[in-house]
Amino acid sequence: MSIAIPQLPKGTRDFYPEAQRIQNYIFDTWRKTAEEFAYEEYEGPMFEHLELYTGKSGEEIVSQLYNFVDKGDREIALRPEMTPTLARLVIQKARELKKPFKWFSMPRLFRYEKAQKGRLREFFQLNMDIIGTESIYAEADLMAAIATMLRKFGLKDGEFAIGVSSRKLLATYLDEIGAPNPAQVYPALDRRLKIGPEAFAKALADAGLTEDQVAKLDAFMSCKSIEEVAASVHSEAATAALDEIKDLFATLEAAGYGECVNLDLSIVRGLAYYTGIVFEVFDKGKSMRAIAGGGRYDSLTEKLGGDRIPGVGFGMGDVVLADLLREHNLLPSPKQSVDFYIASFTNDMKKVFEAAQIFRANGNTVSHPLSSMKMGKQLDQANYQGAKIVVYVDGDKATAGEFEYKDLRDGTMHVGNVEAIKAAL
Ligand code: HAM
Repeated sequence: MSIAIPQLPKGTRDFYPEAQRIQNYIFDTWRKTAEEFAYEEYEGPMFEHLELYTGKSGEEIVSQLYNFVDKGDREIALRPEMTPTLARLVIQKARELKKPFKWFSMPRLFRYEKAQKGRLREFFQLNMDIIGTESIYAEADLMAAIATMLRKFGLKDGEFAIGVSSRKLLATYLDEIGAPNPAQVYPALDRRLKIGPEAFAKALADAGLTEDQVAKLDAFMSCKSIEEVAASVHSEAATAALDEIKDLFATLEAAGYGECVNLDLSIVRGLAYYTGIVFEVFDKGKSMRAIAGGGRYDSLTEKLGGDRIPGVGFGMGDVVLADLLREHNLLPSPKQSVDFYIASFTNDMKKVFEAAQIFRANGNTVSHPLSSMKMGKQLDQANYQGAKIVVYVDGDKATAGEFEYKDLRDGTMHVGNVEAIKAAL
C-alpha cells in the first residue's frame, strides 16, 4: 500500500532557508523603520474569541475567518487582522497606558481567501498604529514611516503612491446628496473599481440610491484634486474634512514626502471600523493588489465595550511587497554567507571546535566540517556556505598564536593572528 505524500495546505508557504533569508530581510527592514520612528513592538495570541471580529470588522473579513469550536466549547477564530487584538489590549489597560502611544507588530495572519497573486491564506503583516490622539499629524507620522520604509527597500518616489481619502468627507457628501445610511453603502463603494460601472450602479440601487445619486457619487469619487472636491461640497463638515487633508499633504510635503501621497477618493476600504482618513498604498499604475492599507478608527474600542479611544494605523502585507521588490530586482541574494570557515588538514576536530569558539566571539558567523573530510571537500563546503575567509587550524606556515588563512573573495593566502584575520574581514 502506498502512502500519500503530505501536501502543503492551499494558500500557505514553506520557508526553506533561502526564502526565510528574504523574509528576514523584510522583517528587519520593517522593524528597523518602525523603531526609527519610535514605535514600540507588541504581540498578542494567534487566536481570539470569535466575537472579537463578528460585527466589528466587516462582512468580507468575517466570511474569511478560520474559526472552530475548541474542546471547552468556545468559539475561536485564528486572527485575520491585528486591529481588534490591539483594541482589546488598549481597552484592558486603558487607564495605565500613557497616551498617545505608537506601537507596531508583525503578526502572522489567517484568512480563508481564494488563493491568488498577492493573496494567500496565511501571511505576515506589519501593523503600525497610533492610539490616543485625533490629530492629523498621527496620519502624517504613519505615512512618513511608510514612505521611508519603501525607500529603504530601494523603491523610488513615483514607483509607489499612498492614496488618501476620507470617510468623513464621503459621509458628508452622502448626506449632502441625501443618500441613505453610509455604512450600507461603503462595501459597494469599496468595490467600485473592481466590479465595473454596471454592477456598481446595481449595488448602490440595492442600497437605496437613485440613478442621479449614483452618478453624482461616481463623479465625486473620480475627483483628482482638492480644488475639484471643494467645488462639489458645501457643508461645514465637508470643508473641515478637506482642510484636514490639505494640512496632512502640506505637512508631508514639508518633510520631503510630497511625491509619495495623492488624493484618491476611490479608496473607501472594506473594513467597517474606519471613521476618518483612509489610505492605501499601491505600486505605480496600480498593477498589483494594495501593498498596504489603513485608516482612522476612533470608535472601535467603544464598539468593543470600552471607552472611546481614538486610533489610526495601517497594515502592510509581506506578499505583495515581496512581489513588487522582486519585480524591481530589489530582493537581496538568498544565498547563505558566513564570515569564517575553520578547516583542518589532519581533521583535528578538537582544534577545529576550539578555533571556532575563538572566531565566534564578537558575533562573527563561523562554520566548520562536522566529520573527517579531505581539504578539497572542506573548501567546497566553505564556498557553498558563502564563507569569506577559510582559517586552517594546522597549516605548517603558521607559528604559535597564528593561523594560515585564505581569503575566498580574491583567493589570496596569508598568515596572521586572530586579530589580524578578523580585521581582514
Ligand atoms: P487590510 O486592508 O485588510 O487591512 O490589509 C492590509 C494589507 O495586508 C493589504 O494591503 C495586503 O498587503 C495585506 N493582506 C491582506 N490580506 C491578505 C492576504 N490574504 N494575503 C496577503 N496579504 C494580505 C487590515 O488588515 C487592517 N487591520 C489594517 C489596519 C491596521 N488598519 C488600522 N490599523
